[in-house]
Amino acid sequence: MDWFCLRLKDELSVLLQHRNGEECIVKRAWWKESVVYQIYPRSFCDTTGDGIGDLPGIVSKLDYIKELGADVIWLCPIYQSPNDDNGYDISDYFRIMEEFGTLVDFEHLLEEVHKRDMKLIMDLVVNHTSDEHAWFVESKKSRGSAYRDYYIWRSGKNGGPPNNWGSFFSGSAWEYHAETDQYYLHLFTKKQPDLNWENPQVRSDIFTMMRWWLDKGIDGFRMDVINLLSKHPDLPDMPAEDNNPHPLPIPYTANGPKIHSYLGEMKTEVLDLFPIMTVGEMPAVTPEEAVQYVHEESGTLNMVFHFEHMSLDMDFSRPGEVKKWKLTDLKAVLDKWQHSLHGRGWNSLYFNNHDQPRSVSRFGQAKQYRVESATALATILFLQQGTPFVYQGEELGMTNCAFERMEEYRDVATLNMYQQLLALGYAEEDIFPAIQRRSRDNARTPMQWDDSPNAGFTTGKPWIKVNPNYKEINAKQAVEDPDSVYNYYKKLFSIRRHNRVLVYGDYQPVLPDSEDVYAYLRTMDGEQVFIIGSFRKRPLEVDVSTEVKLGADRELLLSNYPSSPDQDNGIIHLEPYETRVYRIS
Ligand code: NOJ
Repeated sequence: MDWFCLRLKDELSVLLQHRNGEECIVKRAWWKESVVYQIYPRSFCDTTGDGIGDLPGIVSKLDYIKELGADVIWLCPIYQSPNDDNGYDISDYFRIMEEFGTLVDFEHLLEEVHKRDMKLIMDLVVNHTSDEHAWFVESKKSRGSAYRDYYIWRSGKNGGPPNNWGSFFSGSAWEYHAETDQYYLHLFTKKQPDLNWENPQVRSDIFTMMRWWLDKGIDGFRMDVINLLSKHPDLPDMPAEDNNPHPLPIPYTANGPKIHSYLGEMKTEVLDLFPIMTVGEMPAVTPEEAVQYVHEESGTLNMVFHFEHMSLDMDFSRPGEVKKWKLTDLKAVLDKWQHSLHGRGWNSLYFNNHDQPRSVSRFGQAKQYRVESATALATILFLQQGTPFVYQGEELGMTNCAFERMEEYRDVATLNMYQQLLALGYAEEDIFPAIQRRSRDNARTPMQWDDSPNAGFTTGKPWIKVNPNYKEINAKQAVEDPDSVYNYYKKLFSIRRHNRVLVYGDYQPVLPDSEDVYAYLRTMDGEQVFIIGSFRKRPLEVDVSTEVKLGADRELLLSNYPSSPDQDNGIIHLEPYETRVYRIS
């Protein structure tokens, strides 16, 4: 294993790193030094009383976000949509979803964000549109329609769909259209037909739309499932799977043959024209593939969201189930990404988003050690090399929600999975607990602002259940409590902002085989910071003396226990889920 050293070459713009003994240039960039706060507008803040969050609601909370230490806001889709998949099914890219407000509200939001010296990035959903988008409405009119080729239409085979591909949201990825006697491809719901990126007119229309938003002054895009744009031209069948008539066509859709050509064109036509940030969501991407997308010199995007750490507790042999995960597995995945991108590209750092169960319930201890484990998780993740992404409510230590009945769920993926598992013969009593742990709705319950009815999210009837624990876990309490998760996040982001070694420094794992603690060093230009976090519910004595020199001049930058004993000759005593950050030189 090669340990890298990093030297500050040019204070203003360029850093020198060494990778496998070779020098490589790493450019400083605002988006590398930023913290991103993700908003799921539907569940953030409602000002009209219709039970659905809206843009004025976001404006009313900008100071809260700024105060936390975030620099960039990522808005999940706010475009016009029939909401089959809560905005990820867009029917008009140039209009705002009515429930959220108007274009004027959007312009006001953008102005208010910029006034606070923050930036705003939008979700870009261009693998598919809604079936209510004008392009699809035209496309399905006839085989000869001028828009037919905007989507992926094929004739059936042997009385069924063109191939056996499954949708990410259960069932076949093909929907039959009787009027034209053909099937269209939808990798998500049948109301989300996939666009045909082979068609240059589709690409040109999408690029025009992107420039339209960038001309309005937005600061970049989070790109939805962007590595799925290029499908294998022959659309081959997947190998058959037991008990699954519709296998996911990952090998024929992810990182397909023309993906780099499409993104290269997007770069020339759009991205290069603006000083923006981009992050591409990419299922099934390896670190080596990711480097091709985000390489400092030759890449098209700035960062990717990979899913490797999000899969650690998923049991793929039993749909919807979870499995026990090991700390060493988590470390192996994150270390691999740190190592692979070092000196070549840039990582995104996330444990939460609108598609994932809450991390404190998943990787921490949401009951007895909620605050401790939420803060330990944030520390070990957000001080790695990469840009931190915080998902609304994560900074409060919000937890999974105890949904009691299927009728309480709203997410189309959850509802489809439930039906699919029933059809496959699973018993209701086995399905429900799995759904409770895995559903995306765990992340979509309303933001918990205070202990008033509906957590202060709405004065009306919320579109989805409010987590009953809002009386204890809410922003008002957290802002006032110096020991809250929120106030810890503030300190964490502040030390990251004031210590460039925590942004750009070399990353070196410590005690990689330990199942008890996650620890590493960050090093740059003679400066060194040591980060350690316990993942145990019992106190621990950890000996780091062979790998870390904790000298007398060490400085404790941060800890999530008010007064834990210090260390003695490299033996650190840690309370349950205790985390510490030391400057050691
Ligand atoms: C990924 C998004 O994060 C998810 O919410 C959505 O359902 C799918 N892409 C389809 O757009």
